[in-house]
Amino acid sequence: MSQRIRNWPIIPSSEITPEPVWLQRRAFMKAAALSAAGAVGAGVAPSGASTSMPLTYSKTDCSGCQTDEPMTPLDDVTSYNNFYEFGTDKSDPAKYAHALTTDPWSIEVGGLVKKPGTLHLEDIMSGFDLEERIYRFRCVEAWSMVVPWIGFPLSELLARFEPTSDARFVSFKTLYRPAEMRGTRSFTSVIDWPYREGLRLDEALHPLTLMTVGLYGRTLPNQSGAPLRLIVPWKYGFKSIKSIVSIELTSRQPQTSWQSLAANEYGFYSNVNPHVDHPRWSQRYERRLPSSLFSPNRIATQMFNGYEAQVAPLYEGLDLKKFY
Ligand code: MTE
Repeated sequence: MSQRIRNWPIIPSSEITPEPVWLQRRAFMKAAALSAAGAVGAGVAPSGASTSMPLTYSKTDCSGCQTDEPMTPLDDVTSYNNFYEFGTDKSDPAKYAHALTTDPWSIEVGGLVKKPGTLHLEDIMSGFDLEERIYRFRCVEAWSMVVPWIGFPLSELLARFEPTSDARFVSFKTLYRPAEMRGTRSFTSVIDWPYREGLRLDEALHPLTLMTVGLYGRTLPNQSGAPLRLIVPWKYGFKSIKSIVSIELTSRQPQTSWQSLAANEYGFYSNVNPHVDHPRWSQRYERRLPSSLFSPNRIATQMFNGYEAQVAPLYEGLDLKKFY
């Protein structure tokens, strides 16, 4: 992950629905949906959601689950991506991820659990109550977004498989299907596929950790990690692994893709921390998308990405400079 300024998207303002108009439209549709269906919202369908499907979800107000900060327009969220399986340029996932087949899809859950098994996508979509979480999302490369994700707590999924008392970590793997993932076939590819990530079990069970199946009211577009990805809002974005096919409970800390590549740059924890710089750049500030060379939209980065009240207790007594 390097910062490549020449790739910053300069999007004509005419292509972006003005924020106040968008927010107003959204508030109106939410109000209509809420009055029609009690606490259940109907999927809002902003332009640009192409092949994705509307979802039914509720809006919970748990601590940290919502923010009043303006949301990043859908077009930015789905055109400026990191998904190396489809290439390293920010525009590659939107260009090439349509090649990915996401139906059928299943996830193997195993390791230190009492009931190992397979979850099929249709069981996931019908078996968990979906909710919308509006989270800040901060990439280690110092750009950020605010996204209305749709999903359910990872803890609910893990509970079904009954982790044993020896389980201390959770490891995740992305699909590896070179025929559909041109980035994995590239000679310049640096990752030892499949893409792998991991969390401590208590982080995985934290109520903010979201198994995510949609954004902006609809199923995830492929470039955003369809059909199912993780969102861990207080950690750098690379922990939020996309297109997951395997979850394993372990007693030892799992090796992650970015750690294998450069452990001194990308730690296992990777909690957003403005006081611990990346070896090659500062983490004090971030560019909030939409951002351009002429209007960088630079804001101060917050400790734990603004989720300190919710997650700081997880790290009491831990030296965050050492365990970065
Ligand atoms: N997951 C997989 N499988 N492959 C990837 O390349 N990139 C990570 C993360 N998850 C990545 C991934 C990085 S570096 C970031 S910043 C986020 O996805 C980007 O998510 P977004 O494209 O939805 O903004």
